[in-house]
Amino acid sequence: MIRVLFVCLGNICRSPMAEGIFRKLVHDEQLTEYIEVDSAGTSDWHIGKSPHEGTLSKLAEYEVSAEGMAARQLTVNDAEDFDYIIGMDAENIGNIHNIFGESNHQRIIRFLDLTSHQKDVPDPYFTGDFQETYDLVLEGCQALLDLIKKEEVFS
Ligand code: 4NP
Repeated sequence: MIRVLFVCLGNICRSPMAEGIFRKLVHDEQLTEYIEVDSAGTSDWHIGKSPHEGTLSKLAEYEVSAEGMAARQLTVNDAEDFDYIIGMDAENIGNIHNIFGESNHQRIIRFLDLTSHQKDVPDPYFTGDFQETYDLVLEGCQALLDLIKKEEVFS
């Protein structure tokens, strides 16, 4: 099983959006039995909460399920449990390294470095623009699936 974890600050806007979109792509490519998806926040601010209503309505608009999503905080155990750790912005990447401490995980990636954009995913909690974030996250998810298909053997 290949395990993918999306990480942002609050785990209510960007990373649950990525989790839902990526799960849908994996399903559409009939890879559900090979790839598992989750998300987490580096902060403890929203533990147990549903995604932000802006994320929920954008996912609903594109028929992406957000069923069962509840915010959780990233833990040191996630370094062992996940193969791909995808941070939404440079600050997330720094915080992931802080939480993981000694464990030098090989695959901690700033999401849009997988695309031609090479920048942070804008945080719609502050910008209010959930469409802009959705479009970039979708592009990132497609690039990530391409990378995994290149790197992994499904059997
Ligand atoms: P997220 O956005 O990291 O994409 O979930 C945020 C959500 C909440 C806060 C900041 C960013 N906050 O300050 O509570």
